Amino acid sequence: MERDWILQQAEAFVRQELAGDSSGHDVWHIERVRRMAEVIAREEGADVFVCQLAALLHDIPDEKLNDSPEAGMKKLTNWLDEHPLDADIRAHLLDIITTMSFKGGNQPPVRTLEGRIVQDADRLDAIGALGIARTFAYSGAKGQLSYDPDLPPRTDLTAQDYRKGKSTAVNHFHEKLFLLKDLMNTESAKRIAAERHRYMEEFLKRFHEEWAGQM
Ligand code: ADP
Ligand code: NI
Repeated sequence: MERDWILQQAEAFVRQELAGDSSGHDVWHIERVRRMAEVIAREEGADVFVCQLAALLHDIPDEKLNDSPEAGMKKLTNWLDEHPLDADIRAHLLDIITTMSFKGGNQPPVRTLEGRIVQDADRLDAIGALGIARTFAYSGAKGQLSYDPDLPPRTDLTAQDYRKGKSTAVNHFHEKLFLLKDLMNTESAKRIAAERHRYMEEFLKRFHEEWAGQM
């Protein structure tokens, strides 16, 4: 079927583009977001194909993986041009991918059910045990400490500050991860997020207890 073929093509494209990334955008992140988007799409009665394809392509234009936002978008639109997609599906995919990322809340809200689902699936991958693992991996890759008691969490840090190592993995929980539960769009994601959130709280509690020599 044409749709299965397009999904396979997208998988191959993403594998090639993200090969070797260790900033948390590796192909397994994409694979997990796709699987989660599919599960939620079925529960919510959304278009499963659009959700899966948007999930597969969602990080292609990410500024962290491209020289400029324009270059990233070009990569995505070139791929879309080369594949036989209905005009409305193509427009829908572009709409989802350009509006879904968490950029300190300045993005316009995601407009469609499918967009809300892929955004939820991406955000779910940033919390829970997986989110903890990704956060420490990202911090290591960027030269940030796991924790620094002299560096309190701040919500006003710029991307530049992060690059200068002004945050830590533990701070990232307060600066972003603990906020995600309340930003979930769908009931399915809210349910999963609540459990993952609880697990992160338990992890940090234990972390601080061990740090203080209490455990
Ligand atoms: P995505 O684009 O998949 O939503 P990001 O590019 O924001 O995610 O980040 C990739 C991973 O690294 C996520 O798990 C995120 O929580 C984590 N991360 C992002 N910024 C930081 C940071 N400053 N410190 C620690 N972890 C971070
Ligand atoms: Ni992502």
